[in-house]
Amino acid sequence: MPSILIKNAQIITMNAQEEIIQGDLLIVDDKIKKIGKDLGDQADRVIDATSKTVIPGFIQTHIHLCQTLFRGQADDLELMDWLQKRIWPLEASHDEESSYYSAMLGVGELIQSGTTTIVDMETVNHTDSAFQAMAESGIRCLAGKVMMDMGDDVPDLLLEDTAKSIQQSVDLLEKWNQYDNGRIQYAFCPRFVVSCTEELLIEVRDLSNHYNVKVHTHASENRKEIEIVEQQRGMRNIVYLDHIGLANENLILAHCVWLDDEEKRIIKERGIKMSHCPNSNMKLASGIADVPDMLDLQAHVSLGADGAPCNNNLDMFNEMRMASLIQKPIHGPTIMDAKTIFRMATIGGAKAVGLEDQIGSIEIGKKADIAILDLNKFHTFPSAEVDPISRIVYSATRADVDATIINGRIVMESGTVKTVDKDL
Ligand code: GUN
Ligand code: FE
Repeated sequence: MPSILIKNAQIITMNAQEEIIQGDLLIVDDKIKKIGKDLGDQADRVIDATSKTVIPGFIQTHIHLCQTLFRGQADDLELMDWLQKRIWPLEASHDEESSYYSAMLGVGELIQSGTTTIVDMETVNHTDSAFQAMAESGIRCLAGKVMMDMGDDVPDLLLEDTAKSIQQSVDLLEKWNQYDNGRIQYAFCPRFVVSCTEELLIEVRDLSNHYNVKVHTHASENRKEIEIVEQQRGMRNIVYLDHIGLANENLILAHCVWLDDEEKRIIKERGIKMSHCPNSNMKLASGIADVPDMLDLQAHVSLGADGAPCNNNLDMFNEMRMASLIQKPIHGPTIMDAKTIFRMATIGGAKAVGLEDQIGSIEIGKKADIAILDLNKFHTFPSAEVDPISRIVYSATRADVDATIINGRIVMESGTVKTVDKDL
């Protein structure tokens, strides 16, 4: 079985005690086999990580790989205008090849910046080629085709017949769910309440229960969006999701910026996973999600970059920093401290996708999904007293990532991304 030995690293484990260990890490096949002092030098590959830092790979719980090619298309528009004028026509223009390259480009960016797992929402068509790219790239993902079966202003190529949308989703699920020993999982992706009939949402609820897979959607991102939902369904967005039985621990909700107290309570009590996307919320002028309050309520909150156009890139470092900084002027400097943010980006993400027994921390028996950082490459820190998590959250960039390992495979080294599965 292939093995990798990482020597003499600072290991930020994010285990229950949040220990930071100086030592070696042995990976055998896809798992972490040993962590400790001086584990020898017997492995297929030995990496000298002296003065480097090993972290659990980042887990991003809201991404649109199909939008990577549309970077620069969110400028100066709010959500509904942006979707109708820019994103939907662009998504409608995808073909098999552009869908593949959009996904590959996005995954390349993610892997280069230390992200090892994503929750991805594709567009209506050509999702199969995006799955192909995710399979070849080696990234861990929960992904699905977007579903949208109602709405004015939706281009013909995106507006789906309900039964067909469901059938295509199930076909993709049957092809890709559990691919590569579970590295790829299917997740149903109704776009948002605004563009989904109740019939579709109820079918998604039943299918997700039947197949035991996640449901990934947007909710309460923008004020106009929640007004439309209120007009259409006669209740607030999250209340409606609860009313139709979709609000449960398998639901991943991107954004959740505009919540009232009842909706916050539903998110907490039903175990819904909120995905906070701060750069997107700033760029689309959506608002500032009340993450400190959600964390006080002990609700699940993790992070995502959303799509490249509403962010500029898919880099988790930017996301972590923004998540912290936007709260500080409101709540003071100690709110959303570095450890809280780093937890959301690692073990918090693992909990959101229901894989906390496999990923999100560096522990024996877990999958080897890690990133190796060189935090001294561009700026040396004169004092060893500097907290490494604080260094990462407030000052690291993609250029500090030396290598990314997923499922025990080196998928990026010194900036070069490698595909893992060319035979598909
Ligand atoms: N709400 C519905 N669709 C989208 C999308 O593609 N991006 C974002 N940010 N919000 C949405
Ligand atoms: Fe989104």
